[in-house]
Amino acid sequence: MIKKEKTVFITGAGRGVGMAMAKHFASLGYDLILNYRKDQGKSAAGLQQFLTSPEASQVSVRLAKADISEPRDIADMMKKLKQDGVDRIDHLILNAASAPFKPFSEMTRSDWKLLLNCNLVGNNCCVNEISPMMPPGGSICILSSMGSRRVLPNYPLGVIKSALESLVSYLEVELHPQDIRVNGICAGMVNTDMASYLQKMWTDLYQRYENSPRRWLIEPEEVANIAAFLISPQASALRGTTLVADLGVSLTA
Ligand SMILES: NC(=O)c1ccc[n+]([C@@H]2O[C@H](COP(=O)([O-])OP(=O)(O)OC[C@H]3O[C@@H](n4cnc5c(N)ncnc54)[C@H](OP(=O)(O)O)[C@@H]3O)[C@@H](O)[C@H]2O)c1
Repeated sequence: MIKKEKTVFITGAGRGVGMAMAKHFASLGYDLILNYRKDQGKSAAGLQQFLTSPEASQVSVRLAKADISEPRDIADMMKKLKQDGVDRIDHLILNAASAPFKPFSEMTRSDWKLLLNCNLVGNNCCVNEISPMMPPGGSICILSSMGSRRVLPNYPLGVIKSALESLVSYLEVELHPQDIRVNGICAGMVNTDMASYLQKMWTDLYQRYENSPRRWLIEPEEVANIAAFLISPQASALRGTTLVADLGVSLTA
């Protein structure tokens, strides 16, 4: 493995897609800054385990604690990183997400606060803190889901994912003078804790998928592969676009 001498910052990196990306980027020789929000629980344990893994030993890995729904937390995290000597971040992956799962008719003000603060305001805040540290050729990759373009039951996150895909275009235009490329990945069902949770809520949909001949569950490593391509120079012509990675599931009704 040849070191890339480039640093990737991943939000919500302790489990699921975020952890798969951490492992894959490390194996490709990227240095990493891995965001997490709690010192206990699955993500904290996953990150500790990753730190002692052979992949992680080949590159520089820093952990960066912040609840990304709190702009003050993000600012403190960045201040600490700068105090620790971090002065350049090449690529930013906006992966963390959390949301209430309920119909819009039941959304309370605090549900909206969680939905917007974590997934939209928090992501934008990460961009505003990190993009000034990016050199020309840097990139941002935002994780979206099929709820951005399909109506899924009890999934208010879908409207935020639509907004994030729109943000991909706006940021691409706004950050173009700095030569920062911005793209997104709109993934179908990915095999993480989130998918198991959604399975309990979307029994009919999952049943339909199960009865179809097409593979429908994407492995987190497959999403990591796409993200690695998007941040690489090989994707230089992709600017302000969101790639759909759903195994072709949405092609038929
Ligand atoms: N799974 C799918 O089917 C699917 C499909 C399409 C798109 N996606 C998108 O892909 C991304 C990753 O999904 P996933 O399935 O890996 O999700 P996941 O298993 O639910 O993991 C979410 C990660 O985000 C972190 N996180 C949540 N809120 C945070 C906050 N306020 N501050 C910092 N970290 C926070 C979580 O930390 P904790 O461990 O502390 O909770 C966890 O590490 C998300 O953007 C999701 O919408 C997922």
